[in-house]
Amino acid sequence: MTAGKARPAPPFAMVIFGANGDLTRRLVVPALCNLERAGLLPEKFAIVGLDHNPRSAEDWAAGLHDFMQRMIGSKGSEFEDRTLDDALWRRIAGSMSYLQGDFTKAETFARLSDHLKARATGTPFDGNVLFYLAVSDRFFGDIVDRLGEAGLLDDSGGWRRVIIEKPFGHDLASAKALNARIAKRLREDQTFRIDHFLGKETVQNIMALRFANGLFEPLWNRDRIDHVQITVAESIGIGTRGKFYESTGALRDMVPNHLFQLLAMTAMEPPVSFDANAIRAKKVDVFRAMHPAKPADAVRGQYGAGVIGGEKVKGYRQEPLVAADSGTETFVAMRLFIDNWRWAGVPFYLRTGKRMPKRWTEIAIRFRNAPYALFRETPVDAMHADWMILQIQPDEGIRLRFNAKRPGQTVALDSVAMDFRYADWFKQAPSVGYETLIYDCLIGDATLFQRADQVEAAWAVVEPVLDAWAADRPKDFPNYAAGTPGPECADALIARDGRAWRPV
Ligand code: BG6
Repeated sequence: MTAGKARPAPPFAMVIFGANGDLTRRLVVPALCNLERAGLLPEKFAIVGLDHNPRSAEDWAAGLHDFMQRMIGSKGSEFEDRTLDDALWRRIAGSMSYLQGDFTKAETFARLSDHLKARATGTPFDGNVLFYLAVSDRFFGDIVDRLGEAGLLDDSGGWRRVIIEKPFGHDLASAKALNARIAKRLREDQTFRIDHFLGKETVQNIMALRFANGLFEPLWNRDRIDHVQITVAESIGIGTRGKFYESTGALRDMVPNHLFQLLAMTAMEPPVSFDANAIRAKKVDVFRAMHPAKPADAVRGQYGAGVIGGEKVKGYRQEPLVAADSGTETFVAMRLFIDNWRWAGVPFYLRTGKRMPKRWTEIAIRFRNAPYALFRETPVDAMHADWMILQIQPDEGIRLRFNAKRPGQTVALDSVAMDFRYADWFKQAPSVGYETLIYDCLIGDATLFQRADQVEAAWAVVEPVLDAWAADRPKDFPNYAAGTPGPECADALIARDGRAWRPV
């Protein structure tokens, strides 16, 4: 995150492991195009694709170009209102080269080293190399080891950084083991663990809302806030990702990473500066102050067949590469507490699921009711709750709901809303959400990346639920129909406390 006007990144080479993967074509390369359009790439840069399949650089570039062209204009995609101008693409494609290789073999890395040396003469990039691991997590450790053995992480002649995608570990033990393995080869300031939710403007704006305004912070605590609801609803199913999802599930896929990032932004103390470590230290404090999740405070669900947007969709167990009796959850809801001065006793309810009625991500802050003195004659249910809703996606914005007097001779209250929509105020540049993250890595700013201790502290919170669920196969799956807001047990979880979920 840079203050003021951003300058072009320094010269660099970027090596993309997993060059033929979905992430590369859908997000990484389009993000590079958007950075180029915004004038944030330097004069000199080289993009090196590396993957198992043999192909030429021209073929790789043509494949990426075709994909983007096909996607442009497609509704609901990251490419909906995008164009790709030829001159821009020529510059990107002209910087591309391709290497075929096995991610686990030393020989690949020897060739990569030679390749980078050869590229460095044609395209001086000052020895700066970013290795982007857009590969399955089982390769993370091997790739970092091989890079280290090949001397490619030695940053005496230019910086060397590694972006590691999620999932970072499968549980606390595996995350610790991966951190320890990586730490043998990379310093923490060379390690960029991505959580793409932090690339979203609305997520970054939570800090601006809280810390650049004097208005809200005095209300932001247990004295004024009754509870917080964080919802990440998705209407998509698991598509072609059955194999990955079967061994992952909604809890691992979404909670200790994406939902916890939203929670940390909402709950963190003000940092002493906007320095990466100052901010990350405040976030990790949130995770450390959280009680380990109680299995009794968490529920899971799996979607069955149903209807979304008028279209019939199949159940999770009928998706490709999913077991016919799968016990994997596609929905999770939980209640968490943060044991610190600001939040003690304030429940944070989290829920996320696939095949919910629509795509909707929000953080809803429910304020305590007013004392009723003035409205003694008003029945309690005529008072509406005060809410602040941070709409993360889509329809990005912030909404404040409060009571107002309905015009007329009697005192009757109505819930009214004040709305701020991003789209009304700001012209947004095209973005796939990875631009800021890649740019920040190129300039060495790790603020929006996860530090080792953050990742471990987050896994520690959810570990008791992971363990309890692993030992207890769900018996009622599927327990929600596609197109509904989740299973009944999720409603029961919050109803126990006399509260209800906001409608999706
Ligand atoms: C990914 C998860 O990390 O985030 C997916 O693996 C999920 O299952 C996705 O669909 C959601 O991201 P976004 O940006 O589409 O909200």
